[in-house]
Amino acid sequence: MTADRPLDPLPKAHLHLHFTGSMRHGTLVELADQHGIRLPDSLRESWPPQLLATDEKGWFRFQRLYDTARSVLKTEEDVRRLVLETVQDEAAEGSGWLEIQVDPSGYGTRFGGITAFTDLVLDAVRDASDRTGVGVAVIIAANRIRHPLDARTLARLAAQYADRGVVGFGLSNDERRGEPYTFARAFAIAERAGLASVPHGGELMGPESVTACLDWLHATRVGHGVRSVEDPALLDRIATQGVPLEVCPASNVSLGVYPDPAAVPLRKLFEAGVQIALGADDPLLFGVRLTGQYRIARWHGFTDEELAELARMSIRASCAPSDVKERLL
Ligand code: ADE
Ligand code: ZN
Repeated sequence: MTADRPLDPLPKAHLHLHFTGSMRHGTLVELADQHGIRLPDSLRESWPPQLLATDEKGWFRFQRLYDTARSVLKTEEDVRRLVLETVQDEAAEGSGWLEIQVDPSGYGTRFGGITAFTDLVLDAVRDASDRTGVGVAVIIAANRIRHPLDARTLARLAAQYADRGVVGFGLSNDERRGEPYTFARAFAIAERAGLASVPHGGELMGPESVTACLDWLHATRVGHGVRSVEDPALLDRIATQGVPLEVCPASNVSLGVYPDPAAVPLRKLFEAGVQIALGADDPLLFGVRLTGQYRIARWHGFTDEELAELARMSIRASCAPSDVKERLL
C-alpha cells in the first residue's frame, strides 16, 4: 500500500477565511495579556471551544467569543501581525492565493473609520503578500444583522477599492436574520463595480436561502451552501451554472450544522458536479486550518487525485488573475 500524498504541498486557493477568525491562538492569548483583556477559559486553557451551536444559544456563544477575539486587536501593529501570520500560515499550507473576508464596521471606531481601517488592512495584505509570495485579496463583508443601509455604505467602500485589492462583496453573520433580498441594493452597487458576489447562505438555513442568494444577490460563489443538497433542483442549478460553494467542514461541525464530519455532504456535492472550494472559516474558533479540511475530505474517501481536483477547483473558483491561476493549476 502506498502512503497518502502529503496535503500541505498541494497548490490551493483559500476563499473562505474571516479576518478575526484567522488569528493564531497563541497571538490571541499574547495580545489579550498585552492589552489586559480577560479571556474566557474556552479561549485560553481549554481551547478550541466546544461550540456545538445547534441552538440559538450556541450561535450567541460563538458570537461572544468572536467579539472577544476582535477586542484584542487594538493597534495598527496588532492588525499587521495578524495579517502577516495568517498569510505565513497559508503559505505553509500550500495556499498560493488567499481571499480574506473582513467587515470594517467591526473595527472602524478603533482605527479612525472604516476607510482608514480598510487602507490599513490592504497595506498589511500587500506587505504580507510581498514577503511570502502568496497572492492575497480582500473581500469586504457586510453584517446581515445590521441595517441594509450599513451594507450599502460598505458596498460603496468596497467599490472604491475594486481595482486596489478588494475583489468581492460578502454577507456574513446569522442567516436566520437579515434576508438576502434586503441587501439586493448593496450587492448591486458591488456588482456594478465588478466585484464578485460571495454571500453566506445554506449554512444555518436550508436551500431556500441559497436560492435567494442566487436570485437577489447574483451570487457568483456561495459561502457554505452545503444545505443545497436538500433540494435536488437547486443542486442541479448550481452544478449547471458552475456556482462554486465554499465548503467549510470543520466549521459546519463546530456550529452544529452537521453532527459529525462524516455527515458533511462532501461526496454528494462532488458527485453532483458542484465546484467546491474548501475553506476554514474561523480556525481560531474551530481549531482546524485549511489542510485540515482536505484531511476531512480524505476521511470521506477522497483519493489523492480527487483531493488534487478539489484543490484545482478552489483555484478555478478564485478571483485570482488568470496568470496566477495558470501558475497554480
Ligand atoms: N462570520 C464568521 N463565521 C461565520 C459563519 N460561519 N457564518 C456566518 N457568519 C460568519
Ligand atoms: Zn464564514
